[in-house]
Amino acid sequence: GRPRDLAGRKVVISAGGTREAIDPVRYIGNRSSGLQGYALARTAAARGAEVTLVAANVALPDPAGATVVRVESTAELREAVLTASGGADVVVMAAAVADFRPATRSDSKIKKSDAGGPEPIHLVTNPDILAELGARRSTPSQVIVGFAAETDDVLANGQAKLARKGCDLLVVNQVGPGLAFGTADNAATVLVAGGEPVEVPRGPKEDVADAVWDLVAARLA
Ligand code: C5P
Repeated sequence: GRPRDLAGRKVVISAGGTREAIDPVRYIGNRSSGLQGYALARTAAARGAEVTLVAANVALPDPAGATVVRVESTAELREAVLTASGGADVVVMAAAVADFRPATRSDSKIKKSDAGGPEPIHLVTNPDILAELGARRSTPSQVIVGFAAETDDVLANGQAKLARKGCDLLVVNQVGPGLAFGTADNAATVLVAGGEPVEVPRGPKEDVADAVWDLVAARLA
């Protein structure tokens, strides 16, 4: 059994991947399945937490014991996470958030004949929700956790990102065959602000989730 070390704690978790509309039928999206965020929600509930799960475009059943808020775009995810984070002890940004969105959204379906050829899609930068959360915690003791998928210079890039985003923990996923996106397994290094990194060997996404909650519980204590 799991320890009940998150009993009475309010936890907000984002999961899945945001979609940015181009027109009523098309979007820019990513391959995030939501499996890691849902594993975090299940394990946090099992450890006693009160869980709000902000799910972006996830095709998974609601985890037992979590309040699920479904969103589509980065703007909707940001609104839901910032609202829920108000009274939260912990916020975990496991969602893959689009860095950019189309500058405009066409109200009608764009047709091949509209301009006689392919038109460029102009992009604008989305707000960085994790950096916003790190910059203004709702209480000094609030614990902020980010995720990052890095393919090279994992530790150096991860440490720089941890500092830049002002979070307490940064889970750096190893991306590769059978790992991370859309798979049941994960392998990760959890970077800790002011502490030593923790390696989580390849295994089910629950293992990464429990390693995160061990570190979170220690910081809250
Ligand atoms: O900078 P990068 O996209 O690698 O950072 C990933 C982390 O930042 C994830 O925790 C993700 O949820 C979060 N993020 C965010 N807002 C963005 C982009 C990423 O909160 N616009």
